[in-house]
This record gives sequence, structure tokens and C-alpha cells, in this order.
Amino acid sequence: QVAAATGHTVVLVDQSEEILKKSTKGIEESLKRVTKKKFADKPEAGAEFIEKTLKNLTTSTDAVAVVHSTDLVIEAIVENQEVKNELFKTLDKFAPEHTIFASNTSSLQITQLANSTTRQDRFGGLHFFNPVPMMKLVEVIKTPMTSQKTFESLMDFSKAVGKSPVSCKDTPGFIVNRLLVPYMLEAVRLFERGDASKEDIDVAMKLGAGYPMGPFELLDYVGLDTSKYIIDGWHALEPNNPLFAPSPLLNKLVEEKKLGKKTGEGFYKYK
Ligand code: 3HC
Repeated sequence: QVAAATGHTVVLVDQSEEILKKSTKGIEESLKRVTKKKFADKPEAGAEFIEKTLKNLTTSTDAVAVVHSTDLVIEAIVENQEVKNELFKTLDKFAPEHTIFASNTSSLQITQLANSTTRQDRFGGLHFFNPVPMMKLVEVIKTPMTSQKTFESLMDFSKAVGKSPVSCKDTPGFIVNRLLVPYMLEAVRLFERGDASKEDIDVAMKLGAGYPMGPFELLDYVGLDTSKYIIDGWHALEPNNPLFAPSPLLNKLVEEKKLGKKTGEGFYKYK
């Protein structure tokens, strides 16, 4: 959405037409929200902006068929090392020489993903934040193998889509999640110990620390499955780090398929 809105030609690839239809609908709805604010007193210019953006965006279920004319691949599929490696390995065979590959992973090592391809120098991390149309940050991740030219292209691309990039080494969680995820897990542990209610913890962090959402609201917003993937991955890397300890309550909710806002229930109910 943000790439198309800033004049880039985008092909959105997913597994089925049904998913793509749902994604396109989500983009249209989000564009309306953005336009309402950006073109508050110019509805015609707003309509033109939406039309232009959607013209820049096509969809496909065949990544191999579209990658041959792509300058930049941004992968944002399931947080699973093997599945991502398999995708990159395949795309590497069909993408042009100059094409840069980037992953939006929040928890996996970019270096390991790059190693599934033959273009380690043209591989980096581009980590966006929810909701992407609103959050100004992108973390640009450079592995020891990422070339300076690739790194600069990723920084330039981030600016070209209207974001403010920061850079970070290929370390667990990069900057934001390395601070945010342990904080959210500490909130769950505070609640699990019975020290305070989740409602009071959320109010406390909003009114006492100026956060736009409390930790439980944010966990539900990010998705409890995503949060669990992140913490489980780090726990496997550093089993003795108490900040990366899994939470029984988070695990239980994920087991019950209460994944947050997207399923209608997580720590809170949304139906
Ligand atoms: N698309 C377009 N616009 C959107 C939007 C979306 N998906 N979501 C919200 N907005 C717009 C609304 O239209 C609204 O515009 P308005 O000011 O013109 O009315 C504006 O954002 C504010 O929205 P709301 O009034 O509905 O609610 P809030 O004032 O609470 O703002 C929020 C919503 C921007 C999501 C804010 O609550 C916030 O910043 N929350 C914290 C988000 C955060 O921490 N994100 C990072 C998560 S971590 C992550 O993503 C990393 C990953 O790896 C896990």
C-alpha cells in the first residue's frame, strides 16, 4: 500500500485469490482512512490519489512468474525459517541479477535467510511496523554480507516510501522488538503473578508513560501468535535469558486460537 501510494509499481503476491481479495479490500479501506485525513478539504484529489495508488498495484498467486521483472522483493510470509528459505531459494533462481531481496521478519536472522540464496550481498532486512500506513519507522538491517550499495538502496527505498529509516545489525529483535517484546512479556508476567489487572496495566502505561496503547492492547494488535513466534525463537537462541522466557498464559491463548484482534479474541474480546 505505501509503496503503491508513493508511485512504485507493486505486485502483491499471496497463496490464493481469496487471500488477495481480502488484502486488496483491506488496502482500499486503509487508503480511505489515509485519504480522509490527507485530503480533508479536497475530496476530488483524494479520489484521484486512491485511483492512482490502486493502478500501481496488481496481484498474483505466482511469485516465480512475476519476479523476473522485479527490482526489489519484500517478503512478509509466515515466521518460519524453512518456509522462508524455500521461497527465497526458488525466487533466487528466477530473479534478475540486480534484484535485491529483503525480509520483513521480526525475529529470524537475516543472515540465515540470505544464506539460502546466492545473492548474500544483495540481501537485507526491511522491517516495517503495524499499522504500516501510520508508523513512520523502518529498520534497515545490514548483515556482514550485505553490500554498501544494497544497504544504501534499502535506505533510499525506505525514504522513497515516506518512512524514516534507522539501521541495525542483524541481532535478535533489531532495535524496536528487542525493547518492546520483553516489555510486553514483563506485563504478562506482572498480570500472571496477580500483581495488577490487565486493564489497569494498560491504563497505567497509557496515562503514566504516554504510550498510545497498553501492552495487552498492543499484544492483541500485533497478534499473539506472532508474539509467541518471536519469544520462542529468542528463547531457543538464549535459553537462560529471563527476558526471553516463554509465558504460560500467552502459550495457552495461542493454543486456544485466541490470537488477538484478528480472531476476535486475545487478552480482550473484540466481537
Ligand atoms: N490504515 C490507515 N490509517 C490508519 C490505520 C490503518 N491501518 N490505523 C489507524 N489509522 C489512522 C486512523 O484513520 C486515524 O486517523 P485520524 O487521526 O484521521 O482519525 C489515526 O490513525 C488514529 O487512529 P485511531 O483514532 O483509530 O486510534 P489511535 O489514535 O489509537 O491510533 C494507532 C491508532 C496509530 C495504531 C496508535 O494506537 C498507535 O500508534 N499504537 C501503537 C502501535 C505500535 O506500537 N506499533 C508497533 C507494533 S510492533 C510491530 O509492528 C513490529 C512487529 O514486528 C511485531
